Amino acid sequence: MRIGIVGAGRIGGNAGRLFEQAGHEVFFGSRDTVADAAAFSDVVMLSVPWTAIDEVLTTTGPLEGKVVIDTTNPYGPGGVEDLGGRSAGRSNAQRMPGARVVRAFNTLTSGFQAEAAGRSGDERVVMFLSGDDAGAKALVSALIEEIGFAPCDVGGLDETVADAPRRPGAVYGEEYRVPDAAAVVEALSAGRPIPPPSA
Ligand SMILES: NC(=O)c1ccc[n+]([C@@H]2O[C@H](COP(=O)([O-])OP(=O)(O)OC[C@H]3O[C@@H](n4cnc5c(N)ncnc54)[C@H](OP(=O)(O)O)[C@@H]3O)[C@@H](O)[C@H]2O)c1
Repeated sequence: MRIGIVGAGRIGGNAGRLFEQAGHEVFFGSRDTVADAAAFSDVVMLSVPWTAIDEVLTTTGPLEGKVVIDTTNPYGPGGVEDLGGRSAGRSNAQRMPGARVVRAFNTLTSGFQAEAAGRSGDERVVMFLSGDDAGAKALVSALIEEIGFAPCDVGGLDETVADAPRRPGAVYGEEYRVPDAAAVVEALSAGRPIPPPSA
């Protein structure tokens, strides 16, 4: 698969290297090659600071029909206090008409993502994802598995359980393992408080 990294910093750079090791063609976009990174790819990873998103999206060109993995977290001006209760994923999807947005890679620090990749079985760390496009989520789940994490789908783009900030009752910033992930999904669909990680 062709994967373009828009924002090849700590999160995007690390994920890009892992995708490359898994055999994908990866374009590590620089500020001057944002449009090339997007045009090259079937899958775009958007991994820039929240405050840069609007500017970056003016240079990516249309993302309609592309799977966009959104790793961003709403810190800084225009961030979580200004979202009026909208999820970060919904806010970003509204800025990318027609893109098949999947939020993922946003709940764990870049250092931990680098260290925890490549595990197998129950040792795998859970990578939470959300999105409205089932096909896009299946594709991103497969990528997550290939690089040695356990994908866990927490729902549609309006879901905020994986959004920043770290807080009780959310998965943001928490290390979950495979056996806990099913209980998280079950609790979410039953409208119950999610269990804390046992790891
Ligand atoms: N760091 C973490 O632990 C972590 C964890 C989860 C999610 N996140 C989220 O993931 C996103 C990326 O975080 P990060 O820590 O990887 O950031 P980072 O290391 O600072 O990398 C950001 C990347 O975005 C590029 N960029 C910044 N402004 C740009 C612009 N106007 N146009 C084009 N490219 C631009 C930077 O390019 P230059 O190198 O040229 O500046 C850099 O490649 C953020 O939204 C963050 O909240 C971070």
